Amino acid sequence: MSFYVTTPIYYVNAAPHLGHAYTTIAADVMARHHRQRAEDVFFLTGTDEHGEPVALAAEAAGRTPKEHADLNAAHFEALTPRLNATNDFFIRTSDPRHVRAVQDVLQRVKDNGYVYEGEYEGWYCPRCADFKNDTEIADGNRCPIHEIELTREKETNWFFALSRFQEQLEELFAEREDFVLPTSRRNEALAFIRSGLHDVSLSRSTLTWGVPVPWDPEQVFYVWFDALLNYVTALQFADPGQDLTERFWPADVHIVGKDILKFHTVYWPALLLAAGLPVPRRVFVHGFLLGSDGRKMSKSLGNGLDPFEVMDLYGVDALRYYLLRDVAFGADGSVSMDGVKARFEGELANEFGNLASRTIAMVLKYRDGAVPGVDVDPALLDAFASLPQTVADRVDALELTPALDAIWELVKRLNRYVEETTPWVLAKDEARAGELDTALASLVAGVRSLAVLLHPWLPEATEKLRGALGAPSTAYADAALVAGRVTQVEKLAPLFPKQ
Ligand code: MSP
Repeated sequence: MSFYVTTPIYYVNAAPHLGHAYTTIAADVMARHHRQRAEDVFFLTGTDEHGEPVALAAEAAGRTPKEHADLNAAHFEALTPRLNATNDFFIRTSDPRHVRAVQDVLQRVKDNGYVYEGEYEGWYCPRCADFKNDTEIADGNRCPIHEIELTREKETNWFFALSRFQEQLEELFAEREDFVLPTSRRNEALAFIRSGLHDVSLSRSTLTWGVPVPWDPEQVFYVWFDALLNYVTALQFADPGQDLTERFWPADVHIVGKDILKFHTVYWPALLLAAGLPVPRRVFVHGFLLGSDGRKMSKSLGNGLDPFEVMDLYGVDALRYYLLRDVAFGADGSVSMDGVKARFEGELANEFGNLASRTIAMVLKYRDGAVPGVDVDPALLDAFASLPQTVADRVDALELTPALDAIWELVKRLNRYVEETTPWVLAKDEARAGELDTALASLVAGVRSLAVLLHPWLPEATEKLRGALGAPSTAYADAALVAGRVTQVEKLAPLFPKQ
């Protein structure tokens, strides 16, 4: 079983922000979960370095596009380990190996008869690097995403015959209900296709910062085609001496934000069909993280939440947890430092951290650290025996927030179980030693199960916890709520120390 997950590749026009961290964290949660299930996983992220967004930002900063790209790509590359992301490769589209591979694929698209020369005139957003059709223009002739005025562009260039894929795309959507998720986004993409597809520019004649068109080196490819192809080109050179295409293509899921839906659900499958390549299995479209004022976060509005500040204050696990628990994955949601603090204190420290500390402290106090060798309380087993399956099913359906919610039910249940069984009362009565054994063994089994299930969301805290339990395995088979896996516990420092 292989599992290939990607993030969008990030524009290097500016430094990374929370929106970028979000997609990377979500992809990492999936990658880690699938690795736990012993699947052959490939997780790709990287930077989108060509095109107008980068060329314009470089010019404003008084740098060449390459200098600007190198500078910012380094920030993005440094962000991934900081987020504890376990990407298998980091692709940069300025990599000459990517450039050559893009030229090969697009030459094939031309050879297959889907490219022609023509003239284009339309409204263009240089920040999106996108020509907008009538339905995509906001009041005042502005970009609905960047809110800047659109520019009128007219040029002679190469065209991709997107319109010829209308029927095939409609068939693809009909055959594969889950090609685009969530369903509301699928409907949006389908409506766009049904409204009639127009051919799109494949190249730009006015720009030099890009991949040269092999049959017309005066022009460069339109950045979106160069960028989308990263998902297939990376497999050719990510592992020197080995082409990973057979092993991982088609991708299992591309994770993208809603602003780039059209490119991934319409242009991308059409381009692959034109090149004679298989289309990805699914595209998951997430929403926007909004500022405290309910608008999309942006530097100019100053309404953002800084991921670095969150990590400095509360740690990387808190950021990972907060983003995927507070905002339903797939929907828009406001984020704020107050929100982080509330989840950190209320759930991570008080619910999960406290449960782990109490459980271990009680085994140390009442049983000298030796876990009683008895079965898990049937009351817990009945309710949670199927939890690992539920979580896996939800992650498979890309429902990351419901998956986390299901796990959190066990955290809450175990806390209630402590209150119900009151081990400190049982410990005072020798006649109730059996009950105390069951309570302690059940709590240890529950906490160990959590340390496996929560690994994708909370890699640092769960590692510490598994260490104290002498149960380092993250294998999903070990997520089951069973006794006997842990025989001895060791002292545990607070998992989420109060700030
Ligand atoms: N370079 C293109 C993607 C090419 S993929 C072949 C691009 N880059 S981007 O840097 O502008 O955005 C990358 C991702 O970050 C997008 O999925 C976008 O939705 C996401 N986010 C940027 N700001 C965001 C929020 N405020 N909230 C959530 N995600 C948003 O587009």
